[in-house]
Amino acid sequence: MQLKRFLLAISLILLLLFSTGCTFIPQADENKAVDPTPMPAQTQPGKEKVPFQDIHTLRDAALYSQKRTISIGTAANIDAFHADTTYQTIMGREFNILVAENVMKMYVTHPDIDTFNFIQSDELVNFARQHGMQIEGANLIWSNQVPAWITNGGYTRDELLGIMKDYITNVVGHYKGQIQSWIVVNEPLDTDELNQQSIWERIIGPQYIDYAFRWAHEADPQARLYINEFNTELVNEKSNRYYALTQSLVQRKVPINGIGFEGHLDITLQYPYAQLVANMKRFANLGLQVQITEADIKLQNSPHTLPEKFTQQATLYAELIHACQDIKQCTGVILWGFTDRYTWIPNFTHHPDQPLIFDNQYQPKPAYTAIKKALYGT
Ligand code: G3I
Repeated sequence: MQLKRFLLAISLILLLLFSTGCTFIPQADENKAVDPTPMPAQTQPGKEKVPFQDIHTLRDAALYSQKRTISIGTAANIDAFHADTTYQTIMGREFNILVAENVMKMYVTHPDIDTFNFIQSDELVNFARQHGMQIEGANLIWSNQVPAWITNGGYTRDELLGIMKDYITNVVGHYKGQIQSWIVVNEPLDTDELNQQSIWERIIGPQYIDYAFRWAHEADPQARLYINEFNTELVNEKSNRYYALTQSLVQRKVPINGIGFEGHLDITLQYPYAQLVANMKRFANLGLQVQITEADIKLQNSPHTLPEKFTQQATLYAELIHACQDIKQCTGVILWGFTDRYTWIPNFTHHPDQPLIFDNQYQPKPAYTAIKKALYGT
């Protein structure tokens, strides 16, 4: 009798389940299949008051800022990333935006006409996702670090346009939904300044900029698309031309969202704070975001003692942070690396330097503390 009741109960339960369409596939597994590496949810504590002595990283200083929360990022050097676990630890702990220093550039991602290579850029993107960092893709179109098959290819304008479209569509498409912002066109002004005449401009003409933005937008309509330039932090002849260029992009309704100012600075030069802010503000007033994209601050030309140089460097870094906080359209400050051990500057200037915020042994320099205080708003 008891067995009969038991079997009846089981039958009723099964009937009920089938009638409601239950398939016995747990929801969690379904999610897992869709996205095996979800971005860790970042805690959003709002403006909860956390005392400065309890803030231990730059990203927390930014998150718990008593002023305005901005992002704080770094470029990632792939050799250091592979060789050095301390490098990875500090990068994942201190920063909330990651930019590949080189491995997302065309010479790496599209090394041959029929090859795309995302091995190294995927490593960095996965690291960023695992550490709750946003990713800025740098860069799509530049005069430099273009693969030889393009520069030596002898392509016509139409052929180069076809190549460019295919390249942008593939690279941006590969990272669709994963990369929040792209430097679409890098350093469009004065490419001769560095003996790097741009093949894009030479063969296609200045319209290459419009095409690049339109195709990037088609490939990922959600990504914020940036132009980027150096030596344009202050109001001067070059930044006036940068302004005219970006203004005309906006007027022609090219899908651009932001303007980058690299911020490769030098303590021996003057960067009047009010002018820094005024310059970035006029670009922001075009209705675009602005960002410091590649900050580092050279010491090598200064005659002062090392402690004095470190103090000047710290002050200047803090001013970059303050300037960004003071402009509501400024999304963040990205440093071009974080440890002097792996800076690009000595290779470029053929002179030793210490332009970043951790020293060669990963000890925080005065600049680190200054940035932390500035982000927090003390
Ligand atoms: O990959 C080769 C390697 O195979 C070779 O053994 C080695 C020997 O020197 O060179 C390696 O290539 C170097 C490459 O970085 C990757 O490490 C190049 O020589 C070197 O010139 C190149 O420098 C990069 C530079 O862009 C190229 O102009 C820097 O690391 C990178 O920091 C710098 O970044 C740019 C931004 O993208 C745009 N704004 C300016 C900024 C500084 O120039």
